[in-house]
Amino acid sequence: MLLDTKKKPPTRELFAVEADHHMIGLIDLHDLHQQYFEHKATIGYFIHPSYRGKGIATAAVKAVTRYAMKKYKLRRIEGWCRTWNKASSRVLEKAGYKLEGILRKHKCRDGKFLDDMVWAYVR
Ligand SMILES: CC(C)(COP(=O)(O)OP(=O)(O)OC[C@H]1O[C@@H](n2cnc3c(N)ncnc32)[C@H](O)[C@@H]1OP(=O)(O)O)[C@@H](O)C(=O)NCCC(=O)NCCS
Repeated sequence: MLLDTKKKPPTRELFAVEADHHMIGLIDLHDLHQQYFEHKATIGYFIHPSYRGKGIATAAVKAVTRYAMKKYKLRRIEGWCRTWNKASSRVLEKAGYKLEGILRKHKCRDGKFLDDMVWAYVR
């Protein structure tokens, strides 16, 4: 039997967002180190409803973006959100991401076609 002893690099790094000694959110950096796209990654985020509207997601996305650009020598981080998700797009805008486009009918959920926005931070 052949064993693959080579460790593959991680494709994802997760960050807990803490407040009041509790985990109140998550930043998800994913699609790292894929075969042809080593220079880029994708970011996602969630903040507990009780803690929203205080600038927490913006601060966390900014911090992870800065950290990931340096650690993984990235040139591009993408953030995706539905066109109706104003809070999410505002977070990306405030964190220095630029809107690159709207993909119409990009996803289909429960028979409904949904438009997505793609934002990116590049250096
Ligand atoms: C998106 C999310 C992470 C934002 O977290 P947050 O900590 O409240 O974000 P911030 O406080 O840093 O910034 C939110 C911004 O959106 C704005 N905003 C919130 N709801 C809005 C709405 N309905 N319309 C317009 N702007 C809105 C806020 O006013 C704020 O902007 P401002 O500083 O200019 O006033 C949070 O709402 C969440 O977890 N949502 C569910 C998960 C989700 O949608 N994740 C993104 C998937 S793509």
